[in-house]
This record gives sequence, C-alpha cells and structure tokens, in this order.
Amino acid sequence: MDLKNKIRVIPDFPEPGIRFKDITTLLQDGESFKYAIDKMAEFARNQNAEIVAGPEARGFVLAAPLAYAMGLGFVPIRKAGKLPGDTVSVSYELEYGKDMLEIHRDAIKPGQRVIIADDLLATGGTIKSTVRLVEELGGVVAGITFMIELSYLPGREKLNGYEVFSLVQY
Ligand code: PRP
Repeated sequence: MDLKNKIRVIPDFPEPGIRFKDITTLLQDGESFKYAIDKMAEFARNQNAEIVAGPEARGFVLAAPLAYAMGLGFVPIRKAGKLPGDTVSVSYELEYGKDMLEIHRDAIKPGQRVIIADDLLATGGTIKSTVRLVEELGGVVAGITFMIELSYLPGREKLNGYEVFSLVQY
C-alpha cells in the first residue's frame, strides 16, 4: 500500500521554507491507518515488545492503537506539568529554546521491553529524550517506530544502536 501518497505535503508551514508532512489525510483513510498500525505491530512483535510508549501529541495517535492492536499497555510521555503522579523529566533543545518531557516514575518496570512510537523522526530530539526517560526507569528500548522519517536530517544517527523502523521516508 502506498502510504506516502496519503500524506499531504503543505509548503511553507509552520514557517516559510518548511514542507510540512501532514498525516491527517492518512489517518482519515481507515484502510491506510489500519495498514500503518499493522505494519508497526509486525515490527514490534519481532522485537518481543512488552509495552508501548509514545510522546504527545501526534505520538499518541500511533502508539495507543499500536498498543491496543498488540494487546499491550500504553505509556504516555508528556510535556512538562501534564502528568499528575510522580514523574521523571528530561529537557531537550528545540530550534529556539528548550522543552521538557516527562514520564510517570512507575510507568515502566526495570527490564521491561519497550517499543517507542511517534509520527515523525526529524532532528531526533524528541525521540532521544523519550529513549532517555524509558532507560532512566530501567526499561529496555526494544525498538523505535515512526510513520515518517526525514532522512535528510540527522535523526537516525542519534539512534545508533537501536532498532529503528519507519514506514515512509523523505
Ligand atoms: C513533532 C513530531 C515529533 C517531533 C519530531 O512533535 O510529532 O514528535 O516533532 O521532531 P524531532 O525529531 O526534531 O524532535 P511536536 O513537538 O511538534 O509536538 P506535537 O506532536 O504535539 O505536534
């Protein structure tokens, strides 16, 4: 199935010169959405995943159905101040300034095999922070899966040593 064909590219969003990869057009097509999640599940099964984690907001759209499809639990990774329980945080650099991601301290058990899912690998900053949170809790990152990989950016280099699977590459 041609998933790339279902992704809409919007020029000059959110700023001039950026060609935004809009997955909403893929998500609204039930067959494509199901195919994408099934492919991610196939990858995750091969890594013997035990739980799925994903960063908000677009990561939730993929990580939660992936967990459901596999009959596994889902762990939300959220921006600062959103999770109510005891958390572990990590801050990461954005193009301008910094942001912070958090996970509940009791969300992952030591040794548990975690699949991380997100919509997009760009600079890799978001996913590297997610990896750090999972590992800080003693989780084992069994694999990382994306809907889209921007291979002209150095995201994958940041994930050397991890199993990475993306559905569509630009
Ligand atoms: C986007 C996207 C990825 C991340 C990729 O999230 O959903 O999580 O950026 O970029 P990176 O590889 O350079 O870190 P964003 O922070 O825009 O949040 P959103 O999902 O809430 O829109």
